[in-house]
Amino acid sequence: MYKSEQLALSLKHLIESGFWKAHEKLPSLRQQANTSGFSLMTVMNAYQDLEAQGLIYSRTKLGYFVAEVPITNAYKTNVILNEQIEINSLIFRYLKSIQNENITPFGSAFPNSQLLFSAKLMQTLAQQSKYRQNYEQMPSLPPGNIELRKLIAQRYSMQGIQTDPSDIVITSGGLDALNLSLKALTQAGDYILLQETIFYGAWQAAEHLGLKVISIPEHLEYGFDVEAFKDAITRYPIKVCLLMLNSHNPVGFTVSDEIKLQLAQLLHEHQIYLIEDDVYEELYHGHKKPLSMKYFDQQNWVLHCSSFSKTLGAGFRIGWVYAGKFSEHIQHLQLMSTISVNSLIQNALAEYLSHRHYEKHLKMLRSTMKRLKLQYYQYLSTHLPDSFKIKLYPSGYFLWISLPKYLNSHLIYQQLLEQNIGVAPGTLFYQMEKEYHHIRINCSFEIDENIEIALNQLIQHLKE
Ligand SMILES: Cc1ncc(COP(=O)(O)O)c(C=O)c1O
Repeated sequence: MYKSEQLALSLKHLIESGFWKAHEKLPSLRQQANTSGFSLMTVMNAYQDLEAQGLIYSRTKLGYFVAEVPITNAYKTNVILNEQIEINSLIFRYLKSIQNENITPFGSAFPNSQLLFSAKLMQTLAQQSKYRQNYEQMPSLPPGNIELRKLIAQRYSMQGIQTDPSDIVITSGGLDALNLSLKALTQAGDYILLQETIFYGAWQAAEHLGLKVISIPEHLEYGFDVEAFKDAITRYPIKVCLLMLNSHNPVGFTVSDEIKLQLAQLLHEHQIYLIEDDVYEELYHGHKKPLSMKYFDQQNWVLHCSSFSKTLGAGFRIGWVYAGKFSEHIQHLQLMSTISVNSLIQNALAEYLSHRHYEKHLKMLRSTMKRLKLQYYQYLSTHLPDSFKIKLYPSGYFLWISLPKYLNSHLIYQQLLEQNIGVAPGTLFYQMEKEYHHIRINCSFEIDENIEIALNQLIQHLKE
């Protein structure tokens, strides 16, 4: 997307959301260039683009004015049909920016690696790497290492979900689990349902598979909007939903058991499959692990996807899907793509999980993340004006900040990158034309001197 198109889109949103009223004068080209940081030429192109769309009109020597356009409210439109999705190029640029070590990683999706690599894990990896049989491919071919699958199945039973290891397929991380599940359940042209704000991997998968996406907005209080869901499934022939209900990325909410139960009943009644993205399932801050939708699923409508990426490290690339009757289909798909997941790492994780190390590690990780998230929350909410809204959800390591309506998160993301500070802009998580007023901050880094300087720069920039 060109800069002028980005600017035109954010101005379009301001007009459509009623921020500027009909016939109100827009900032002059020079003022707009100063506030947005774009060149005069870019601003002029954006204004001309908006004029061509009939959203603004010009009056000789007086400047540009807002035309009469209907005001749209994102929360009124409960169902949005996206027949064409183009998000890859934006994500590609974002991923490049988080690879740059000079950039403070508030924009990263990965937890601080220093919290993940425990000494025991390192020891286990070193020990296991000495045994030749750990490199053999046969035992690690789909559905994956049997010991590892047994241990994962045990973790399900700890939550009252009876699981047979044969229901589980080991995948190359959670993203592979999501992609394989979606591929197994859909064909190009099928309708799927996503939350309006969701991990960009879901949009990418939909784009890749040529699916039609219906999206529903989050419920501002409960996270998941059951009424919007009912509305969507009665209006569209939805085949599969892909949802995050625990420790939602990026917003942070966890949906209540009552809502999960209602959703499970609806899935069963309407015969709709759910691919549940639960890669943050272990990062709750309370005493009890939230239940997954799999718990409420009596009839096998749910495929539960998770991974060790957020607890042990995304570099291991080990995830899984509780695929049930789709296990074999998913294995066929794997044999056509990744063949198998790294055998040494599968063996080493099986060894590591078979002791109590993982539980101890998780306990420590949760309490550190809880402490850091609270510190960031307090720091940011003390120093930012009230027009910035931050909600503190008790899980994970992200804060999702709502900016005042006149701030465009995509521009802020770009401007902050120039100061070597990363943030994740809302544009990564919702379909392109929705809103541009959120940023996600990764709070898993101790607030040392450098992080504090970066936080202050971020705050200063947002205030300005
Ligand atoms: C919501 C969500 N789902 C899935 C993934 C992919 O996880 P993995 O690294 O295990 O592939 C991520 C990674 O950031 C994520 O945030």
